[in-house]
Amino acid sequence: MIRPHGCDFLMPLLVDNPARLKVLQEEAAYLPSMMLSSAAAANAVMLGAGYFTPLAGFMDKADALRVARDMRTSKGLFWPVPVLNLTTEGQDIAPGSRLALRDPNVAGNPVIAIQDVQAVEELSQDDVDFIAQQVYRTTDQAHPGVSTFASLGRVVVSGPIEVLNLSYFQSDFPDTFRSAVDIRAEIEKRGWNNVVAFQTRNPMHRAHEELCKMALEAVDADGVLIHMLLGKLKPGDIPADVRDAAIRKMVELYFPPNSVMITGYGFDMLYAGPREAVLHALFRQNAGCTHLIVGRDHAGVGDYYGAFDAQTIFDESVPADALEIKIFRADHTAYSTKLNKVVMMRDAPDHQKEDFVLLSGTRVREMLGAGEDLPVEFARPEVARILMDHFAQEAANTA
Ligand code: ADX
Repeated sequence: MIRPHGCDFLMPLLVDNPARLKVLQEEAAYLPSMMLSSAAAANAVMLGAGYFTPLAGFMDKADALRVARDMRTSKGLFWPVPVLNLTTEGQDIAPGSRLALRDPNVAGNPVIAIQDVQAVEELSQDDVDFIAQQVYRTTDQAHPGVSTFASLGRVVVSGPIEVLNLSYFQSDFPDTFRSAVDIRAEIEKRGWNNVVAFQTRNPMHRAHEELCKMALEAVDADGVLIHMLLGKLKPGDIPADVRDAAIRKMVELYFPPNSVMITGYGFDMLYAGPREAVLHALFRQNAGCTHLIVGRDHAGVGDYYGAFDAQTIFDESVPADALEIKIFRADHTAYSTKLNKVVMMRDAPDHQKEDFVLLSGTRVREMLGAGEDLPVEFARPEVARILMDHFAQEAANTA
């Protein structure tokens, strides 16, 4: 199976030895504690679940700046996005101490991890702007990832962690949330060799469905790992349970049996476009996948990125030996009314824009909000029904 990033064995930081877990839980009760941001808790989950192998914990300021600038840690490890525990009030945390990290996303704020604090450092406004510019390609506060990043505070609490639990993901999404360890084990069990990962934060429409099928065939894969984001999104995005139900229905009705694993991971969306695509590839390699689909405006938002910047970054800024996973590059994909099937636009050079059924996200939302059917060329009717029910429920709740 494909090697994890930068090492031979996956390094999940979740403590699985029951005796060690008990010791840490007892220690957590009397340690000084800090409340994590949702972003830092999401990092802890990704570290715990093995997706962020081989990191041992939260990065320090030097690593964050170097990762932002060069996509390398100070020790030279390839890494595209800083993995930080940022806080507004960390000045009284002592380097060398142990700290219980509390989970902001679970009632009662239980301790999610214990950190060995190596350093407590402050980012200047220039550092914050530099990181935002490098990672998000903008410092515009209207960008949802930039505004979240700017709100997290300037104090960097770095050092290794041991993770006690994976937050709310296992209890809220027992059938879907999977760690990188779980996915590798399942790939092994199924005897799959080539595995294509599909990143998504949306319910899957026909273009998404066909992208998976085209990639399956193009790379001669044994199966597709649909790997949906289960963490926090921006307002207006569709909640994870609804997306999960829509995706399950689509796979049940429209994919051959045993060709898809439906899974999810616990991370908040960054909307960092190209840099996030590289992170996506890295953690799918850790999950045992050989390919990642990167299509149009991958992990993008608004007009901050060019439609295919998330593909070109792999040519321009990712050295050939940095990752083992390969990218399946998809062109803009849509239903052709001329050919009566979903195609990539590069495969239909004689088409005009009006030969495709194209709906913007805003238009889809408007139609669902108005209880209108989505065109069958755009969405499978059974998927559209789940989305319409969700929108109707939302309208009833706000009435
Ligand atoms: S993302 O933020 O998770 O990337 P989304 O769930 O919409 O958003 O996209 C999942 C994947 O499908 C991404 O690789 C994206 O580039 C690709 N994709 C979505 N829609 C299309 C489309 N119409 N044409 C080509 N690629 C697409």
